[in-house]
Amino acid sequence: MKTFTSITQLGDLQAALKEALWVKQNPFADKKLGENKTALLVFFNNSLRTRLSTQKAALNLGMNVMVLDVNQGAWKLETERGVIMDSDKSEHLLEAIPVMGSYCDVIGVRSFARFESREDDYNEVILNQFIKYSGKPVFSMEAATRHPLQTFADLITIEEHKTKARPKVVMTWAPHPKALPQAVPNSFAEGLNMTDYEFVIANPEGYDLAPEFVGNAKVTHNQDEALEGADFVYAKNWAPYGAENYGKVICRDMGWTVTAEKMALTDNAFFMHCLPVRRNMIVSDDVIESERSLVIPEAANRVVSAQTVLKMLISE
Ligand code: CP
Repeated sequence: MKTFTSITQLGDLQAALKEALWVKQNPFADKKLGENKTALLVFFNNSLRTRLSTQKAALNLGMNVMVLDVNQGAWKLETERGVIMDSDKSEHLLEAIPVMGSYCDVIGVRSFARFESREDDYNEVILNQFIKYSGKPVFSMEAATRHPLQTFADLITIEEHKTKARPKVVMTWAPHPKALPQAVPNSFAEGLNMTDYEFVIANPEGYDLAPEFVGNAKVTHNQDEALEGADFVYAKNWAPYGAENYGKVICRDMGWTVTAEKMALTDNAFFMHCLPVRRNMIVSDDVIESERSLVIPEAANRVVSAQTVLKMLISE
């Protein structure tokens, strides 16, 4: 594996899950694999889980780790080619990327959708420049359209907690004060489409995801109907994908918040969210604090997903 920008690049999902569960049981078994290798983690956006879990994963593999917060202490970067650089941006990404590549063996990049242009976001203009110009294996730490390390951790968590071969998994939109990218729900849908689980996406009208990510999922605009009999409820906010309202907030309906009454419609489902989460917007206090909430083990599995992927990248 030369890049990891989509969960589909894992190939055989069952084999990848088996490997991840082995890594979880044997976190230090590959300590020699990363000896004298350096991971550079480049953040264009904030992070708590991805930053810490990916560092921990690299350390478990015996790697050195460098972290660059592009917006704190680095030169302000120009990303458009052809511009006259007479603004406050002192360095071009086209020099910065190969320089970064010269200092490391593998590069992780976090670069969210900017909501300025749907075309640019869905073409992954920042991530793809790292792939093209760094000369090193690149992995996504959440890009404009996908968050595959999160999805892998989500799938590991479901694998650990499912009690039937084919659970019903419901991904439901929930309200949020800001417009959030589609990376997590796109990626989760992409991952669920690699399984044979029953997969339902519930969202208000105007919030349907891009068809290539929806895949074989059933889409409904009726959350209560979707939740009936669910084994896992995966809550997330996202902004509309449709061209007319791309990146806007067009629904603030608090009737979509995941509450105890909503969870009572399910088959005693587990609650999942990638975090960070807005309590009493996305999910009520009692649901996230309940025994059926998986948000902490899900976040802990971010180390496992990152370590499994880094192991694949540096084993090449
Ligand atoms: N879930 C997730 O990616 O968390 P961070 O944004 O804190 O990294």
